[in-house]
Amino acid sequence: MMQDAVAARAAELRALLDYHSHRYYVLDDPEISDADYDRLFAELVEIERTRPDLARADSPTQRVGARPSTAFAPVTHGQPMLSLANVFSEQELADFDRRVRERLGHDDVTYVAEPKLDGLAISLIYEHGVLVRAATRGDGTTGEDVTANVRTIRTCPLRLRGTEIPDTLDVRGEVYLPHDGFLRLNAAQAAHGGKPFANPRNAAAGSLRQLDPSVTAQRPLRLFCYGSGDWLGGRVPHSQTELLEILADYGLPVNPDRRVVTGYKGCLEYYEDLGRRRSQLAYEIDGVVYKVNDFAEQRALGEVSRSPRWAVAHKYPAEEAVTRVLGIDVQVGRTGALTPVAVLAPVAVGGVVVSHATLHNPDELARKDVRVGDAVTVRRAGDVIPEIVGVVRDLRPDDAQPFRFPDRCPVCGSPVVRDRGVVARCAGGLVCQAQRRETIRHFASRRALDIVGLGDKLVEQLVDRGLAKTVADLFALTVADLADLDHMGERSATKVVQAIAASRATTLPRFLYALGIPEVGEATARALAQHFASLEALMAADENELTAVPDVGPVVARAIAVFFSEPHNREVIAALQAAGVHWPVLTPTGGGALQGKTVVLTGTLEGMTRDEAREALEGLGAKVTSGVSVRTDFVVAGRDPGGKVERARALGVPVIDEQGLRAWLGKGPAARD
Ligand code: IVH
Repeated sequence: MMQDAVAARAAELRALLDYHSHRYYVLDDPEISDADYDRLFAELVEIERTRPDLARADSPTQRVGARPSTAFAPVTHGQPMLSLANVFSEQELADFDRRVRERLGHDDVTYVAEPKLDGLAISLIYEHGVLVRAATRGDGTTGEDVTANVRTIRTCPLRLRGTEIPDTLDVRGEVYLPHDGFLRLNAAQAAHGGKPFANPRNAAAGSLRQLDPSVTAQRPLRLFCYGSGDWLGGRVPHSQTELLEILADYGLPVNPDRRVVTGYKGCLEYYEDLGRRRSQLAYEIDGVVYKVNDFAEQRALGEVSRSPRWAVAHKYPAEEAVTRVLGIDVQVGRTGALTPVAVLAPVAVGGVVVSHATLHNPDELARKDVRVGDAVTVRRAGDVIPEIVGVVRDLRPDDAQPFRFPDRCPVCGSPVVRDRGVVARCAGGLVCQAQRRETIRHFASRRALDIVGLGDKLVEQLVDRGLAKTVADLFALTVADLADLDHMGERSATKVVQAIAASRATTLPRFLYALGIPEVGEATARALAQHFASLEALMAADENELTAVPDVGPVVARAIAVFFSEPHNREVIAALQAAGVHWPVLTPTGGGALQGKTVVLTGTLEGMTRDEAREALEGLGAKVTSGVSVRTDFVVAGRDPGGKVERARALGVPVIDEQGLRAWLGKGPAARD
């Protein structure tokens, strides 16, 4: 860069940093992520280091925070509230430790490692053990009087406990909002139509700076103490460990996750261990703080430009970042669920580069009102898929349009239907490429067409090799087609082909269930078969007629109507019938031979399975139940029937045997095919 270009950039950075620090500290409404702020800050620090002539007393690098707003009375701190230098890598940490060792003139320095909570620094003044004032950090020299609000924090003692209480004690700590409190608060905000907070830190800051302490009292704020300013009288600590112990004895909350470590290796171990537990902590942390334990050593090290030389913050990679939405894709899952996914300008979040983030479902997308071109906050916690926390509204381009969720499946062009929950689903189940595997697996499953031997691995190969584009293709498979596949031989291939052939003879309820119509499970399939008796009648029914079926409501009716109105689905159904899939003709409801009868099956049948008998009975309009009561019309007893027959006799309920059943069903004598 040219000399004056560097000067111009420095001026620009100062203006940017002033602006963003005002938004962050004074307005509690940041526009950029902490990581982005840190980057700009680091760039300015670097320019000022290499070009001392550009350093200025009013540069944001020369002070701790921004000026407080005027709503609260100013408080001048007895001792300044310092900030911490940051390190981001093992090397930078090793350098910090080396500088400490060189200045102290000895190795193996003892540090206290503490979680660095992402909240708000606070100073609590106790006079003779009584809390008299609480102030925010402000610019480090002057903060704001937030005593009334801090008094509402339940973990903050209004009077110190124990003995040897100091005349004056200025306790330093962090006010924060635990994750659960943050979620509750945002839910309450949403319920009242309020704006949700972007993160726990902003929520804590906003809560502490409430003009009405009764509002603050509703916020589940917490406090951890980690240091001190003026300390006159009482027990005097000589190290950070002692300080924390004494504060705890006085009844002040201190973080139990602290640890005494040696050298930078010890620091690093703590950092890695806490990093692994980070997502399980009840509160948000953005790093670890290491403090030289011995106070005499701390004094010897002193401070430089308002940060102590004896402490450093070791930051974790940011779990949130701000980036642009380049596009919104709609992905179709294997069950036909449509998921909107934001395509992002790549950004580092939590140590990995993120270029996509899920928007979960159309409702979520609409609620967050994410638009192409928007600046959004992206979050990655633990191993979960990155998600969009929210839109930075101030950065929305003027021409950004609300996203229109597609009403056709982006993979197969079939209509999209909403289920009873929040899911949008492709109705082209029988043809949609995205759903092939799942459709075929379901079609062959035991309670559907029950094709023995057609397992998941085989279905996967059939789909991947293009041997089965739809379920109808199964019926054209030859032994030669299958024998070629992995884990198959001539013998197993023959068995599968035979099983497919045998599955042609099925029942209407099984067939309907096998189609995988959204919202249609086994029970609904049976109800539909009973009501309409033929596939043709069902396919011709409109939504109104469908809702006449017991337990079919408007959502299910719509899913069925849309499914059958999709020409591709009809083609596959026609192909299945052409391939010889068939079922016994049923008598429609009202005319069924057993319409309205309640039947109980018990014991082992010789010529058919229990399921087959149930299906056949239901086909005639009967309701099959498990318990015998006075409402039972008759009991079908196979071999070894047990107590149900006795109960039926006691109640005077007729009992028939398998032959009697066959007579009802119009089938011949028992013989399995
Ligand atoms: S010590 C002189 N310990 O981090 C040292 N700070 O940039 C002053 N923080 O203003 C801070 N947890 O808001 C210290 N265990 C901890 C901390 C902690 C969070 C915050 C605090 C401070 C900022 C330093």
